[in-house]
This record gives sequence, C-alpha cells and structure tokens, in this order.
Amino acid sequence: MPQVLASAEAVDSVSVDAIVVAAFKSSNGPTLSADAKVLDDALGGQLSEHLAHTAFKAKVADVALVPTLGRVPARTIVVAGLGDRNEVGRNEVMRAAGSAARRLTDRSTIASALHSDVSDESAADGSVEGFLLGSYKFTTYKSDPHPSKIERISLLGDPDNDLIDRGRTTADATKLARDLTNEPADTIYPETLAERAREVADVAGLEFEVLDETELTERGFGGLISVGKGSARPPRFIVMRYKPDAKSDETLAIIGKGITFDSGGLSIKPAGSMEAMKTDMGGAAAVIGAMSALGRLKPRVEVLGLIAAAENMVSGESIKPGDVIRHYGGGTSEVLNTDAEGRLVLADALAYACERKVDAIVNVATLTGAIMVALGPKASGLFSNDDALRDEVASAAQRAGERVWPMPLYDDYRSDIDSEIADIKNTSSRWGGAIKAALFLRNFVTKGVPWAHLDIAGPARNDSAYDEVPKGGSGVATRTLIAWIEGRAR
Ligand code: BES
Ligand code: MN
Ligand code: ZN
Repeated sequence: MPQVLASAEAVDSVSVDAIVVAAFKSSNGPTLSADAKVLDDALGGQLSEHLAHTAFKAKVADVALVPTLGRVPARTIVVAGLGDRNEVGRNEVMRAAGSAARRLTDRSTIASALHSDVSDESAADGSVEGFLLGSYKFTTYKSDPHPSKIERISLLGDPDNDLIDRGRTTADATKLARDLTNEPADTIYPETLAERAREVADVAGLEFEVLDETELTERGFGGLISVGKGSARPPRFIVMRYKPDAKSDETLAIIGKGITFDSGGLSIKPAGSMEAMKTDMGGAAAVIGAMSALGRLKPRVEVLGLIAAAENMVSGESIKPGDVIRHYGGGTSEVLNTDAEGRLVLADALAYACERKVDAIVNVATLTGAIMVALGPKASGLFSNDDALRDEVASAAQRAGERVWPMPLYDDYRSDIDSEIADIKNTSSRWGGAIKAALFLRNFVTKGVPWAHLDIAGPARNDSAYDEVPKGGSGVATRTLIAWIEGRAR
C-alpha cells in the first residue's frame, strides 16, 4: 500500500515522477487551475500549447500526460479534468484522481494538487480515495504480477491529516470488498468467507458469530439450507456486530447476499451467464468492507452486519423447482426457479434482522439481471418501503460517489408472485423482474422496520475500468453503506 502524506511543497519545485494538477472544462476549451498555470509558466506556455493540440477537453476524469523534459523537477505533468468549474465537488476530484492513478501505476512517487482549486473541503479525502482505488490491482494469481509501483502520494497544500485518514479508510474498505469479490469460488466459499469475516472482525474490534449448517437447520434458516443443499460446501450465516463506545439508541442492520458461486442450480445458467458468478457475493463483500471501516471511523450507532452465504450448485441433493421452503421466522416460499436463489437466502436474513427489531435495514445484493437491463452496468437500483430511508440511502450514495437510482415497489405487482401452495413464489414472468425480486424481499420485512434494498448486479463487477473503478470486482456499495451509517450516527 502506498504511503499518503500531506506536503507544503510547491508544484514547480516538488521532485516526483508525476505531478497531478487540475483543468476545468469551458466553452473555449480546457482552462488550467492556478497550480497548472504555475507549471505552464515554468514551461514557457508549452503546457497549454500542447493541450490545445490534443483531444483533451477537461471532462471529469479526462487525463493528459505531458513530459517536462527537465523544465521543472517533476518528470511528468498529469493534467486531470474536473469538468465544469461551477459543478466540481469532492467526487469529481475522487474520479479524476482514480483515472489519473490508473495511468500512473508504473511510477513510484506522485504529488497532487488536484484538490487545491476546489472549495469542497472534503476534496482532499476524495483525492486520497481516488488515488488508492485507482491504483488497485488484483495480482494474487499472476506469475508475473506487475503490481502498482506507486510508493508515495504527496498531497500538496498541506491538507488535514484527518482527511487523509478518512480517504484511506474508505479506500481500504472498498479494496477489501474487491479482493473478496475477485477471489475464485474455489477459495471463497461460505466457510472461508466466514473465516475472512472473522479476521476482519478481530482487527476491527467487532463481535463475531457464525452459524454452521447444523445450527442453521436447528434454528430454521430454510432458505440458506435449501439453496446450499446441492453444494459440497455447506452454507453459513455470518453475524458481525459493531458497538460504539458511548451507548447508542439505534441499531442498524446491513445485510449482504453471499452466494459464493451461482450456477443457477437445477434451473442451470447457460455457460456464458455463469462465467462471472464467483462475484455473486458482491453484496456480502460490501457489508464486510463497510464493517471493517467502523472500528476506525467510530460512528455513534450500533451496526449489525449480516451475511447469508451459500453456494448454489447442481447435484442429486439440490433444491428442485416446485419445492417449498420454510424460512427463518416461519414464512414459506415456493421455488419455481432455483436460479432466483438470492432472494431465498436473503428472506432468512431479513426475518432475522426484523426479529431483532433493528431501527433500519439496508440490504445489498447482486440480485437480478433485470436491473442491468433497466439501469445498465454502472448503476444500482434502490428500492425501499420507507420514503425517508430511500432518500437517506440515495443521498449517502451521492456523497460517496456511487450511482443509485430509485425504483418503484408497485403493490399491484405483488399478486404476480402469489403462490398456490405457499405464502409467495420466487419467480413469475420476466417483466419487471427487479421489482418482483424486491417485492419478494419486502414480504420478509416485518414489524414495520424501514428497509431499503440495493440491487448491485450491474456495478458489482465491470467489464472495463473507468474513473476509480477497475475491471472485475468493484467493491460497489461499500462506500454508500459507510456514508449511510455515518449519516445516521450524526
Ligand atoms: N446472481 C443472479 C443475478 C445476476 C445476473 C447478477 C447477472 C449479476 C449479473 C441471480 O441469482 C439470478 O440468477 N437472477 C435471475 C432471476 C430469475 C431466474 C428470476 C435473473 O436475473 O435472471
Ligand atoms: Mn441465480
Ligand atoms: Zn445469484
């Protein structure tokens, strides 16, 4: 992990491999920030001259690399776009830093003045988050790994160390979630996911409990048991608990879908759709990531992190279409399609959280392909039974720089998932598939607990890198969960 430090050095005297400065988009081309102008002057106007002859527009996260050829101590000037000067805030800085970092993983020392012309005081924490996340690489299984060479990132303008710590904390949490998501299903299965969660809990000072298949059977976790039945790797229910030092009068629950591999079960997926299904525990990864940050951020609110972990596989023991599950708490569901398994394990977790009378629940799940059809690959769908909670989560996501879009829970669609023989069935026609999945979940939210559901099937994993987000597991929703918890604690 690179070192990040505050520095009071000037852009034209700092001796580093790359100096990062900002430019803004305007109608007559890019305009340079004050620090970029200082460098332009040192280069006798050749920086702006060069940019004028390239496609660089200074849109958010546009990046141009310009060698200095000895005119200033820094070897390369990196001009990063922040978009329109009047609209720039913390997250534009974060995205631009991420984009710059992805181009700079072959350098060892970086200095950045990206945040200095931005009035948003958390711009410095955004730039730390962006640089650390943008330089992320998952190299565990590469013989010739080419890891990021970045050793030191100096933030010019001498920002507050608390801001640096904050950026590092949210980046670390997200990187943990990315690592867990990128691990193959052969190394991360319910039991090992629970072990990793236990290690995180130990480091973060959290209480930890895990229920194995025997306890799950005894205590009636029918969804987890049924979905996990076809696998040689038995299911687990993971409970992490953060308690603040000062007594809090609220308990929040965050719940993650932890399907460590989704073959579809007997309603088997076609090969192409199965390829990326080691990432079907992206929701669980976000919950573990967020829980890891709480020990450092110390919000004054109690938080339960719950993970429903199972492997959805094919065998003579597998759950079959037509089977009926009795979930935790006694509710029943008829399984028509074994590939709609996420909602089955989450039903147990939601009932468990409601039984504990938590004050609010946010669950995170790679739940439906339908949400990707609706919103595309870069946005999560946000569903809630409570308008105030929906707004809270949407604004937390906005603060965190993650894209979510509110989705409806139409009551008259609920009858589509009425079952002839159980309380509810797990699929119906494909139309509105993400909404029906959310309506299924809502059925297991009881006692009037405010609940929100993030369907992260799109952005949990990416085909190509952008901004601070890499190809592969993204750790999406980790930062939204942290921002939501911190918002509630205020
Ligand atoms: N894990 C999948 C959803 C998914 C699809 C996540 C693509 C990421 C990328 C989920 O378990 C699933 O298979 N959902 C089905 C539901 C259907 C059978 C009602 C789907 O979306 O096709
Ligand atoms: Mn599935
Ligand atoms: Zn799934």
